[in-house]
Amino acid sequence: MTADTADILLLSGPNLNLLGTREPEIYGTETLAEHVATATKAAENNGLILEHFQSNHEGEMVEAIHAARGRVAAIVINPGALTHYSWALHDALATYAGIIVELHLSNPKARESWRHVSVVAPLASGSIVGFGGVGYRLAIEAVAVKLRK
Ligand code: DQA
Repeated sequence: MTADTADILLLSGPNLNLLGTREPEIYGTETLAEHVATATKAAENNGLILEHFQSNHEGEMVEAIHAARGRVAAIVINPGALTHYSWALHDALATYAGIIVELHLSNPKARESWRHVSVVAPLASGSIVGFGGVGYRLAIEAVAVKLRK
């Protein structure tokens, strides 16, 4: 995860390691490994190198963002439920000068009201939500477009 060469850090938050079997009616049947493969391929198609880190721990997510500072050009982050309340994640992302794309499989705005708030969205260039696994490709393509500018 600490390779010097990566362009994009894909960060996956709590419970995303269970994708494939976790509430498949909401999140689909693809595993996290399959989403990472999709994102890796999209990055390669755009001449970019992607690394991935998943954690169920807020502090590890914060530290992964710290380690990305000045090292990778972009962070694509699906923070899971941390999206909705982690001011620590918000503050960590605020220290990061690169491109930030917020990514969700589901559309949190169409779900319970406590999911309608994102403390990550104000720091992101944009958010890709509600497109399931396709979102992983779209998020990487969005980064590639921003980097080409
Ligand atoms: C999620 C949406 C969050 O509200 C939820 O807590 C998740 C997954 C998504 O990808 O749709 O863990 O980030």
